[in-house]
Amino acid sequence: MLCGTCSFRALVRSLLLALWAALSGLTFLVLRPEGDGFVARPLRDVAWSNPSMAMRLAGALLDAQRMAAEPEKAELLSLRTATAEQFPGGVHMLPSRRRGQLLQCLCRRFEVRRVLEVGTFTGFSAFCFAEAGAKVISLERSSSQASLARAATRTAACSVEVCVGDARHLVRTLGEEPLPTFDLLHLDADMKNYQYYLDTCRSYGLLSPNALVLADNVLFRGLVANASFEDRGRVGRIVRSLRSFNRKMLRDSPDTEGAILPEDDGLAVIWTRP
Ligand SMILES: C[S@@+](CC[C@H](N)C(=O)[O-])C[C@H]1O[C@@H](n2cnc3c(N)ncnc32)[C@H](O)[C@@H]1O
Ligand SMILES: *[C@@H]1O[C@H](CO)[C@@H](O)[C@H](O)[C@H]1NC(C)=O
Repeated sequence: MLCGTCSFRALVRSLLLALWAALSGLTFLVLRPEGDGFVARPLRDVAWSNPSMAMRLAGALLDAQRMAAEPEKAELLSLRTATAEQFPGGVHMLPSRRRGQLLQCLCRRFEVRRVLEVGTFTGFSAFCFAEAGAKVISLERSSSQASLARAATRTAACSVEVCVGDARHLVRTLGEEPLPTFDLLHLDADMKNYQYYLDTCRSYGLLSPNALVLADNVLFRGLVANASFEDRGRVGRIVRSLRSFNRKMLRDSPDTEGAILPEDDGLAVIWTRP
């Protein structure tokens, strides 16, 4: 009986995937760690064990393509200006217009209600999540950046709460509070600690079973995919941490899967297997 159910499920799954492949004319290329390097594969050709998550991802990419012609919201444009005035050295950390749109589309397609973000900076991505209907808790160690973020996100459609401190400590504090779980974890801060953040959130039960994890900059200026790049300093440490994070989460772990969207500096999209 159990086996009958399994093969029935497998049949439904492959029928759905075939239907989806036939209907979606578009082929999005994603990167997946394979062996010691990466391979680029069309999203719909990967044998996902959680196809409903893969289909939502494809839907979000399609939505973002349609949204690309839309101008950026006035609030986001003024946030870019305010950031450039107050933190000119940090302007490069602001997400691209396209990234902001993609974050909103992901939020909508995955029906995200609650976001935990590591790395607020001046609140650009937090604003995008909140505009897409999610309540956001965002962690930032710089109090001056956090205060601009608070001001900038006050008018967003949903609430944004910015907590100031070292996120390595704050995630544990959050883990000890009786909070509802988060549907999306956005990692956008100290890259060498991504594994720590994800493991801590999971071990404290902070994430919903179907939570989406987005980790930014996982290709780190292309260095992560460059096999001949070795460095003993800070950059080398970041690159080694990211390589290990990508392989573990996207290749080796029996309970997570996902892919890297190659745009900008690489965005890893990770979810749990069913
Ligand atoms: C790339 S920026 C975040 C960009 C932001 N998500 C946005 O939409 O503009 C990274 C931020 O993470 C913060 N950060 C880095 N390490 C941190 C840590 N351990 N705890 C808290 N914040 C940290 C930095 O101060 C910086 O503002
Ligand atoms: C890869 O890294 C090597 C060593 O640092 C460097 O010389 C080379 O230009 C890099 N390749 C690319 C494509 O960035």
